[in-house]
Amino acid sequence: MKESLQKRDSWNSKLGFILATAGSAVGLGNLWKFPYTVGKNGGGAFLLVYMIFLLLIGYPLMLAAITLGRKTKLCAVGAYKSINKNWAFVGFLGVLCGFFILAFYSTVGGWVIYYLIEAIKGNLNTTNSTLLANIFTQFISSPQKSILYQAIFLIITYLIVVKGIKNGIEKASKIMMPALLIMIIIIAFRSLSLPNAIEGIKFLFIPDFSKVNLNVIMNALGQVFFSLSIGMGVIVTYGSYLDKKENIILASTYIPLLDTFVALVAGLATIPAVFSFNFEIAQGPSLMFITLPAVFSSMSFGYLFCIAFFILVLFAALTSSISMLEVCVSYFVDEKNKKRSSSALLITLVIFLIGIPATLSMGVLKDFKLLGSLNFFDFYDKLTSNIFLPLGGFLLSIFVGYVLTTKLALDEICINGEKFILASIWSFLIKYIVPPLVFIILINSLKELFTLIIN
Ligand code: PHE
Repeated sequence: MKESLQKRDSWNSKLGFILATAGSAVGLGNLWKFPYTVGKNGGGAFLLVYMIFLLLIGYPLMLAAITLGRKTKLCAVGAYKSINKNWAFVGFLGVLCGFFILAFYSTVGGWVIYYLIEAIKGNLNTTNSTLLANIFTQFISSPQKSILYQAIFLIITYLIVVKGIKNGIEKASKIMMPALLIMIIIIAFRSLSLPNAIEGIKFLFIPDFSKVNLNVIMNALGQVFFSLSIGMGVIVTYGSYLDKKENIILASTYIPLLDTFVALVAGLATIPAVFSFNFEIAQGPSLMFITLPAVFSSMSFGYLFCIAFFILVLFAALTSSISMLEVCVSYFVDEKNKKRSSSALLITLVIFLIGIPATLSMGVLKDFKLLGSLNFFDFYDKLTSNIFLPLGGFLLSIFVGYVLTTKLALDEICINGEKFILASIWSFLIKYIVPPLVFIILINSLKELFTLIIN
């Protein structure tokens, strides 16, 4: 408890909050997951559904989560519990979700570290898709290597969380985040100037409505939750550090805006190049790792760009992974009175163990489908993005809408006399739109997951 209180003091600045929360939101979800999910789900049709969910569900929930955190000044479990004891389980669900996200997030974090090293060695300097695909496949097919790099990613995450240098990392993101932004804008320009890039733009921005199906809808909702870090208590926890004098409305507007901007630019950096180089748009998780090195190879100073890019991606991934680990650790520290260092170590170890099958299922265990037609990586991804996070978001909307009540939430939002012109729209969305909409999609996702497992 003491430890978390100390931390609470040191985070009392709006910039600290924005940096930490934006750091959590902007990560592999934007740079790696968004482009390939767009690619797999029909391009513009997916983007359109994504944008609608962002406005109707993501943004209102972001505001709700920050408000709940700041009102109670407690971490996720404590926040729910302090208002109604029976609701503590929502915080606990978030902790559980953190374990499973980090389990496969660290797989990809490991890939980024490996690619950084390969970039330094100068091994990625080609636009040949077969060669680039080989580099990727060879790496993920080596159990030793891919597990080793996953472990390195987790160890770095652990060290940051336990050594209390999170603050330093968040301050560093003041430089790293703008650097990342400038960098992907430049890459996007390069990608857009490649021959045939226009096909990629069309794919991304012109919706083909015949492609909108239930799957696209479920994945778009999952991506909104995943990308904004909503539904597992990260935002509630970070919101609890926000000072009472800060404007919640502004703070919760910046984050989704920035997050969506980064995702879109990452899409523009990747997708036109995929069309230009004639790569496979629906190839899935390997998309960024195969496409972007080709873009770098086609630009001057590409070698340096490639290195700088993977450093920045690693940084963005770490500011997200520490937020997940933090939710899990603070649960055991605050709620179970455990020591910070030992609980962090134990949690990281458990995540590593759950994570190993996810890593292997991209390589040697590729065809080993323990869970019906899903491998472990896909299972963790679907379980968290399409089930746990939406469930957490659904419960958050019910909680803020009816248990805390939007009236009390609005009192907190406007505590310094802030004018919130969208107040009644926000209340309406939180009470009447978010819960049924998320619920219906959630039921379908559950059905889908169940069918995939038993098949
Ligand atoms: N939003 C993060 C990203 O885009 C991932 C994340 C999900 C972080 C859930 C925390 C909680 O990379």
